[in-house]
Formats: sequence, C-alpha cells, structure tokens
Amino acid sequence: MLNKKVEEILNVQVEKEGYSSNLYLAMASWAESRGYEGIAKWLYAQAEEEREHMLKIIAYINERGGRTIIPAFAKPPVDYTGVKPMFDQVLEHEQYVTASINEIVTVCMQEKDYTTHNWVQWFVTEQIEEEASANNILDKLNLLGDGPLYLFDRDILTLRSEESQG
Ligand code: FEO
Repeated sequence: MLNKKVEEILNVQVEKEGYSSNLYLAMASWAESRGYEGIAKWLYAQAEEEREHMLKIIAYINERGGRTIIPAFAKPPVDYTGVKPMFDQVLEHEQYVTASINEIVTVCMQEKDYTTHNWVQWFVTEQIEEEASANNILDKLNLLGDGPLYLFDRDILTLRSEESQG
C-alpha cells in the first residue's frame, strides 16, 4: 500500500506535469501563430513529454494501491512577449519542477518509502536533461541577440534530435 503522504505529493505532481504540458501547448500555439514553425514543433513535442510524465505518475500511484485524482488545471498564459522571454520562462518552470521532484525525494526519505524513492530517480535524471535542454536553447538565443530568428527556428529541431540520440 502506498504511503499516504507520498500518495498526496505524487498527486500534486500529477497536476504540475499536466500543467506543464498545457503550458508548453500554450507556448506552442503562440509560436505557431507567429510563424515560428520549428519552435512550435519543439514545444508540441515537449508538451507530449510532459503528458507522458503525468501518465507515468498516474500509473505508479494506481499500481501501488493508491488513488490518482485527476485535477483541474490552471489556464496557462496566452501571450508571450517574445521567443527569448518565453524560453526564460521554460527554464524557470523546469527549475520549479526540479524543486518539486526534490521535494518528493525528501518525503520518500522521511516516510522511509524506498520503493518510491527508487522509482522517482528517473524523474531526478530527467530534470537534469530538461534544464540542460532549456539552457542550451537560451545559450543559442543569447548568441543571436536581437538577430533574426529564421535559422534558429529551423535549427531548434536538430537540437531536439541530438538530445534524443544522446
Ligand atoms: Fe516533467 Fe519538464 O518536467
């Protein structure tokens, strides 16, 4: 049987991953409507990943005899002031998610739930990649400065395929 406190904090994480998915969908839709096709594709793929994270947690809670309550999700922002500030927001959001994953690790230790502690390590590693990937994009955007984003929009998808190969 899943420890109650662990079940609670995992349910909170279900909401955070689902919100992340919707946040990236909102960003993708904004980018697409601005003609940034590559950036939109990157964000749509990211939204899918976040949905998979959410599903992973739902399945784990239920498998371990707990119960997942599917929550309401807050409406993500509709407008973004530009590509760079949007990716600043992506990084900030991922740092927030990393902190909440670390919080799950802490609760697992406190509750001596070593099974979930072991299971959640996948997310710990995933967060390293998620932050690195946002940082990588921001490095490239900083190099560009106020230059045109045409090449960046084309190349952002190769950044993604390098990641999935690595
Ligand atoms: Fe599932 Fe990007 O955190």
